[in-house]
Amino acid sequence: MLVSRPTVWFALGAGLIAMVAMLAPPARSQPPAEAVTEVHPPADQTYTGTKQCAACHLKAYMAWKKTKHAKEAFESVPAKYRTTADCLTCHSTGYGAATGFKDAASTPNLAGTTCEACHGPGSKHGAIAKKYENKKVLSPDEDKEVRGSIYKIQPQNVCVRCHIDQQHKAHPPYDK
Ligand code: HEC
Ligand code: HEC
Ligand code: HEC
Ligand code: HEC
Repeated sequence: MLVSRPTVWFALGAGLIAMVAMLAPPARSQPPAEAVTEVHPPADQTYTGTKQCAACHLKAYMAWKKTKHAKEAFESVPAKYRTTADCLTCHSTGYGAATGFKDAASTPNLAGTTCEACHGPGSKHGAIAKKYENKKVLSPDEDKEVRGSIYKIQPQNVCVRCHIDQQHKAHPPYDK
């Protein structure tokens, strides 16, 4: 069937309008989002392990429990590599730091990719939050103090530190 002329012109016209709309600067109908101030949690926090975090963040803990970060990240490592530093830097939390993972027996709550692998060590965050434990609702300042004491996610490309690339091509070789 032949396409009628008016249809063709209509299509061309609509295309042109769309192109002009794309070239035009975006309309500022909404005020620009408030600049996000970078959080600077207190330095020299120590690792506490998942149990401490779970005491206040049960929902987040239960959600994390279901991920491969919780179990497989450590348990899929063949037994003979579970004390190998070159593996533990990615398959445990805080390995090499004074309060980080040491071995499965003494630091079970830091085995695998635990809370503090992504959020950073959180001892002071826990202590600050504890002050307000019995308050139902925090004042804006208190809320800011608590939230400001831990990273929502550490800024230094935290995922990429372990996930070298999507195909996992650069993973260190090991005997299965
Ligand atoms: C004594 C209780 C307590 C402990 C222990 C605790 N938190 Fe929190 N955390 C809070 C409270 C309260 C907030 C404020 C937001 C809210 O009410 O959930 C918060 C907020 C957070 C946030 C959000 C920060 C933001 O920018 O919004 C993260 C992430 C977090 N905690 C991670 C952790 C991790 C990881 C641990 C363990 C190292 C931990 N928390 C231990 C009470 C606690
Ligand atoms: C730079 C970080 C890093 C290092 C170092 C590292 N791994 Fe991994 N490894 C990962 C990540 C990330 C994954 C998950 C890959 C994925 O599923 O995307 C993984 C996955 C694995 C798996 C699961 C593979 C599968 O198919 O399910 C095993 C087993 C493993 N690594 C063993 C080791 C051993 C043994 C070493 C030390 C010789 C080691 N890894 C060192 C980051 C690392
Ligand atoms: C693999 C990295 C990773 C791990 C492991 C992890 N988190 Fe998170 N967490 C995140 C990211 C990413 C966000 C979302 C940040 C955002 O929305 O801006 C987040 C958000 C949160 C928040 C903010 C409030 C919310 O729920 O939206 C809390 C609290 C939190 N995590 C606690 C935990 C606790 C407790 C654990 C351990 C049981 C944990 N996280 C493990 C990456 C992680
Ligand atoms: C401390 C190292 C580490 C960090 C940081 C980390 N991961 Fe992982 N991740 C792992 C390891 C190890 C595994 C492998 C679990 C296994 O053996 O299957 C994994 C597994 C995963 C998987 C599951 C892959 C699958 O096969 O199902 C996803 C998705 C993932 N990570 C996403 C993330 C994201 C997103 C972040 C950042 C918010 C992150 N990871 C941060 C080490 C890490």
